[in-house]
Amino acid sequence: MSRRTHSVSPSPRNPKRARIEHLLLENFKNGVVLAPMVRSGALPTRLFALKHGATLVWGPETVDKAILHAERVVDPVTGVVSYNGKSKAIWMTHPVEKPYLIYQIGSADPELAVQAARTVMNDISGVDLNCGCPKPFSTHAGMGAALLTNPDLLCSILTALREAMPPHITVTAKIRLLPSQEDTLELVERIVNTGISALTVHCRTRNMRDRDRAVIERLREIVDFVKGMGKDIAVIENGDCLGAEDANRVREATGAHSVMIARAAESNPSCFSSTPIVDLNKNLIPSYLRVAKYLDNHWSLTKFCISQFKGTSVNSTKAEEKRVREAVIKARSYDDVKDIVGEWTGEQDFKEIVQAIEARTSEDHSQAPDPAVDSLSRSSSLSQTETEVADEYITPEGTQNPEPPGSGAPLMSDFPRDIPAIITGDSPLTPTPAPRLTA
Ligand SMILES: Cc1cc2nc3c(=O)[nH]c(=O)nc-3n(C[C@H](O)[C@H](O)[C@H](O)COP(=O)(O)O)c2cc1C
Repeated sequence: MSRRTHSVSPSPRNPKRARIEHLLLENFKNGVVLAPMVRSGALPTRLFALKHGATLVWGPETVDKAILHAERVVDPVTGVVSYNGKSKAIWMTHPVEKPYLIYQIGSADPELAVQAARTVMNDISGVDLNCGCPKPFSTHAGMGAALLTNPDLLCSILTALREAMPPHITVTAKIRLLPSQEDTLELVERIVNTGISALTVHCRTRNMRDRDRAVIERLREIVDFVKGMGKDIAVIENGDCLGAEDANRVREATGAHSVMIARAAESNPSCFSSTPIVDLNKNLIPSYLRVAKYLDNHWSLTKFCISQFKGTSVNSTKAEEKRVREAVIKARSYDDVKDIVGEWTGEQDFKEIVQAIEARTSEDHSQAPDPAVDSLSRSSSLSQTETEVADEYITPEGTQNPEPPGSGAPLMSDFPRDIPAIITGDSPLTPTPAPRLTA
């Protein structure tokens, strides 16, 4: 499966931690956060985003049934936790991101959503329900944007999650705008009343493409409406934010507590910093490659993420840029990019990331239980990880996504070495082929 011996372990039931780490409502406010992104939101990208100032990170949507089949495996060297399916890693995380990590579920079933959340809850800080993905693999099964027109089901999933999760696990939702503002407010009211901690609004409707301008001007009324409900929950804007500086514009225009960034972070995961990295081929890509290899991120996934990087060149020549890009495009494994990365271990780069993140952790998180979060949890059943295995999840033929969305990383042993280049985004392994219709 991998080059290292892994220990297979159930999710720890009573993890020995020096202190309680959990998200506070405040953590959803005044932030600039990384959006959920299938494939592009891979573990190394989330870690770089956190290193460069993302206040929270959402993992890529994972379909509820997919994670129930997964085997939790811990890499004894790096600490990486992989939830492995039959042919690929469904989802990967590292304990260092846990205090900031929101796990996004794709679901159309309250019970399955709860089982999925219980499966991973010792590795995460919050659970988010995807209510915005308009792609067929999501909507055909009543998930994603299909939930927007089935508010009873949407709210029953959120209510079930809130009741089943312990108080320290936050429950949130990510929606799109409905065509009518009145209908949107009605939906928001119902969602907020389920007891969620934060609501992300992608300021596009289900039929809008990501090339269409996000209609952020509709958000202020929603923010005011939520405030008027007297609920202390965060409203997070999503759509067209370019980075840390631009987030101020978005906040001012919308009144949103926080701003979520997807494509700008896909292009440059350091966009959360007020001084994002320039000359990505020199200053980001080599380090990204080293960290990705060290963490055993599958090469095809690493290659895909790097193919999405775009940035300004200041001290790099076009020729240098081309050399790095072409080397990555041609490479079939980490071994083929040795010339770009220099010393290979990645351990030092990873240590720097860990230090940067841990330096924030002590400031950002409280040891004391947060009464505001507690009050949101009407019930706190600390049930054990479900062992029951659900029916095989089968994505219908003809959809763009042959396996449930997840980290997208095939298991090392199962994946042929001569993988087709997925760099074009046209590979059937890529759940986000161009032209993209984003969630
Ligand atoms: C590659 C990619 C994958 C995405 N995957 C997800 C996903 O798993 N869940 C989700 O809720 N939205 C997903 N989205 C949508 C984004 O989270 C976000 O809502 C959208 O891109 C708008 O934000 P932006 O204008 O900052 O890009 C994805 C977007 C992209 C570009």
